[in-house]
Amino acid sequence: MAARRVLVTGGAGFVGSHVVDALHARGDEAVVVDDLSTGDRANVRAGVELRVADIADGRALGGERFDAVVHCAAKTKVVQSMEQPGLYRRVIVDGTRNVVDAALASGARDVVNISTGGAIYGETPVCADEETALRPLSPYGAYKAEAEGIVQRPGLRAVTLRLANVYGPRQRSDLEGGVISIFLGAWREGRPLTVFGDGTAERDYLYVGDVAEAVLAALDAGVSGVYNIGTGAATSVNALIAEMSRVLGPAPRVIHAPPREGEIQRSCLDITKAARDGLWSPRTSLAEGLERTSRAT
Ligand SMILES: NC(=O)c1ccc[n+]([C@@H]2O[C@H](COP(=O)([O-])OP(=O)(O)OC[C@H]3O[C@@H](n4cnc5c(N)ncnc54)[C@H](O)[C@@H]3O)[C@@H](O)[C@H]2O)c1
Repeated sequence: MAARRVLVTGGAGFVGSHVVDALHARGDEAVVVDDLSTGDRANVRAGVELRVADIADGRALGGERFDAVVHCAAKTKVVQSMEQPGLYRRVIVDGTRNVVDAALASGARDVVNISTGGAIYGETPVCADEETALRPLSPYGAYKAEAEGIVQRPGLRAVTLRLANVYGPRQRSDLEGGVISIFLGAWREGRPLTVFGDGTAERDYLYVGDVAEAVLAALDAGVSGVYNIGTGAATSVNALIAEMSRVLGPAPRVIHAPPREGEIQRSCLDITKAARDGLWSPRTSLAEGLERTSRAT
């Protein structure tokens, strides 16, 4: 396939910067738009153009040709979204509309929209498939669900990827799903691990390199619509600590704190559809992903 010019919003962030690296590795040209509110210039590899701009400002985008757009930019903190819903609406809803307008104006016909599984399915006693009713429990989740509708526009092939709990190098410890990054920091510094509740809460932990592969597959495939991107397995906090102990050595002391209000017990994505459509399957086991993350940080 000929090299493509791809606009990556949020490309200075955790997930977006891995997408940029994967595009670069296969010879595509990535251009990053990011306001650096939670991203970091240092995440953008040398030679990749970074435009510091706010996607909620319609004037910040557009005016040139792109072949495709990968839309990662968002505010991602669940609790903050309850305190500042206006900000979250502006960035996620208005921002996504601007990105889609800019994609159409630029000639891009392929858009990969990064969404979230955990924040829009809510509690999933059985791993949620794409037909599961959406039950967002926060403005963050509700606006991400709304953004999924916004990318469905005539003239665009849009693929929305609903990500599980992503972890890996460059993850900040204060953003959504950062438990592995928090625990890795505690391990390294010998600080105690704080576990909220009894440690039985389960999440679907997905390595960021596998996310980047899913994005490339979505850019290349002829498919459109919504796909869950996870591992299909739920891992409890206790099991995560046990796995980390196998990879990193004995765990620091564990402190138990009361469960956090509004926290869901189980979040897990059914990924059958992505495999069935030949789009993508995860490759990195939790042990392998933990090892790579700990080596890189
Ligand atoms: N990390 C996860 O576990 C996870 C899980 C599900 C979905 N997601 C989704 O993945 C995407 C990336 O999240 P992340 O975890 O990499 O977080 P992140 O904060 O590292 O990345 C978001 C990026 O968007 C940028 N940004 C924020 N507001 C902006 C604006 N108004 N204009 C331009 N840029 C802006 C930030 O500076 C940052 O670089 C988000 O859409 C998020 O909803 C992440």
